[in-house]
Amino acid sequence: MSSMARPVQRIVDAHTTLEGAGFPVRRPIPVANLPQVDPFLLFDHLGPVRWGPGEAVGAPDHPHRGFETVTYLLEGQMEHKDSRGHRAVLGPGDVQWMTAGAGIVHSELPHGELLSQGGVLHGFQVWVNLPARDKMMEPRYQEVPAARIPRVTRADGKVTVRVIAGQALGVHARIDTRTPITYLHFSLAPGAELSQPQAVTENVLVYVFAGHVLAGPEAVMVREGQMAVFGQGDHVRLAVAAEAGRGAEVLLLAGEPLGEPLARYGPFAMNTPAEIQQAIRDYRAGRMGAIVGGVHENQ
Ligand code: CO
Repeated sequence: MSSMARPVQRIVDAHTTLEGAGFPVRRPIPVANLPQVDPFLLFDHLGPVRWGPGEAVGAPDHPHRGFETVTYLLEGQMEHKDSRGHRAVLGPGDVQWMTAGAGIVHSELPHGELLSQGGVLHGFQVWVNLPARDKMMEPRYQEVPAARIPRVTRADGKVTVRVIAGQALGVHARIDTRTPITYLHFSLAPGAELSQPQAVTENVLVYVFAGHVLAGPEAVMVREGQMAVFGQGDHVRLAVAAEAGRGAEVLLLAGEPLGEPLARYGPFAMNTPAEIQQAIRDYRAGRMGAIVGGVHENQ
C-alpha cells in the first residue's frame, strides 16, 4: 500500500463553557454536530485562567461510569480525591489516567499556592470511551509525574514530543491504557515539518493551543483553539511556516473507533438508555461510593 497523508476532514472551533464550580473550558467535542470522535467522548482545554488568591474553583464530588478520564496539567496544581481512596496532587506536566469503569466518585480541586496565592491553571481533560465489555470493570487509577513522561527532541531541533500514550519519534509511552490510544504533545518550531504515522483504522484529531499549524497534504491552517479531525490515510502531516513569528503547541490524539451504540448523560457514557438509568440509580443509591476525607468508604 502506498503512503497517504490524511486529509483534514473538518476544522472545529471549540466552544467556551463553564465546568464544575465555574472554571472556563474550551470544548471542541462534544459540540452540536460532533457528538464524539470515537473513541474520544470529550475534549476540554482548561483555561488558561488566572485566579486571584482564594478564587480558584474546580469540580467538587461527582461520579463517572463507562469511560476513562485523562488529565494533563500544564500549569497550576490540582488535587484529586476519589471514592477508592486515591489522593494525589497534580502539578505542571503531570498526567492522571482514571478508568472510571463501573463507577467512581471523585473531586478535582485547585490546590496549594494556586489556591492560597492565586495563579494560572492550564491543562486538558479528555474522556476516552470504554468498549461494552469493559464498561463495568473495576475502577483503576494511574498517575504519571512529568519526569516519567518520555520527552524527545528530533535531531534538527524543530520538533519536541512528550509521549503521554502511544509512540512517536521512536519513543514509547509508559502508561498502560485500557483502550489503546495515542496521546502526544508536540512543540513545533517555525519551519518544522512532521509526519506522524497512525494506523489507517484509527480516528485522529489534532488540537492547537498555541500558534498555528498547517495540517494535512493541503496545508490547511489550524489556529489556536481549533481542532482538526482527519480523514483516511496512514500518517498525519503537520507543519509550521518558516516565517511564523512563533512555534506551535499541539496535542495529537488517535484511537481505534469502538463502533458501538453510545448513550450518554452528564458524567455517564454507556451503550443503552437503560444502562444510563441504571447508572443514575446506582449513583443515587451510593453504590459508586463517596469521598470521606480521602479514606475508603465503599470497601
Ligand atoms: Co470528573
